[in-house]
Amino acid sequence: MRLLFIGFGTVGQGLAELLIEKKEQLAADHGFNWTVVGICDPLKGSLYDPQGLDLKAALTAAAAGESLSNWSSACDWDAEKMIAEADADVMLEATYTDIKTGQPATGYVRAAIERGMSVTTTNKGPLALHARELVELADSKGVHFLYEGTVMSGTPLLNLVRETLTGCEVREMKGILNGTTNYILSEMEGGLSYADALDQAQKLGYAEAVPDADVLGWDALAKVTILANVVFGGALSPSDSPCEGITEITADDIEKAKANDQRYKLIGRVWRDGDAVRASVGPQLVEMSHPLAGVMGATNAMTVTTDALGDVTVVGPGAGRVETGYSMLVDLLHIGRMR
Ligand code: HSE
Repeated sequence: MRLLFIGFGTVGQGLAELLIEKKEQLAADHGFNWTVVGICDPLKGSLYDPQGLDLKAALTAAAAGESLSNWSSACDWDAEKMIAEADADVMLEATYTDIKTGQPATGYVRAAIERGMSVTTTNKGPLALHARELVELADSKGVHFLYEGTVMSGTPLLNLVRETLTGCEVREMKGILNGTTNYILSEMEGGLSYADALDQAQKLGYAEAVPDADVLGWDALAKVTILANVVFGGALSPSDSPCEGITEITADDIEKAKANDQRYKLIGRVWRDGDAVRASVGPQLVEMSHPLAGVMGATNAMTVTTDALGDVTVVGPGAGRVETGYSMLVDLLHIGRMR
């Protein structure tokens, strides 16, 4: 499989590490052999070699913050030019997420599919805003478009529902889809103020300097919108659903909940309401006996309510370099199997 990296930051490098580490295992166990023909990153530069690049050397240089522009395979192609010119089977789209516009990632995904490439992305923007259009475009072009890492990184959720729970009717999905806010709430229960817990989340690299996307619920909103559209077949935009973050929750609220054997969690929820699909994000009191109540720190979790099995809860990482890179590896193996 000839691979093209668009974006070679944290997630792209996490995937590269796994591809290198597992090269023999992937070939032996899955008949999966790969060559990276192109890498394009706005900060590190662009490389293209149809004979294949040295991914290990590129990873070492990128991880050390070195530019790739003095390599013999370096070129001045930007992402659009790279997608238009590269001879690749699959584009690995791992550029930054803009939840409001979905760009530039949506344009990259569209262009690669139009050219007949399969695509895997971990980018929430294109899926939260344009899932149906992109899925239909991929179908019409006879290519594969997978995005396991957009919700709960490499923890199987989309694949769990699509593959493993196949034949079940999914009635509701309800869970913790944002690690930063779950970490802050956990630390507040341990006695920190909201400001101190946020400060700690920023120091640990969970929360950004401007933490709005996490603490106001927008990141979780993008994820429930993806679930509403790709699991429940809805046609929701993020702005269609109520969204509240954790900024109004006080230490006092948390203490009172504890006294009642309950815990506040920022819950993302998707459900059917007659023929309509609904979604919401907001703090909710969860009984201590519920599996979601025991999920602490930056961990994510989702309870899937089905007809045949009742509730199934999956718990695992929702972010991270290798954890999100792994979601792309899973997508690649699926694409390999389907081709
Ligand atoms: N910022 C997100 C979180 C990770 O804290 O869960 C990426 O979606």
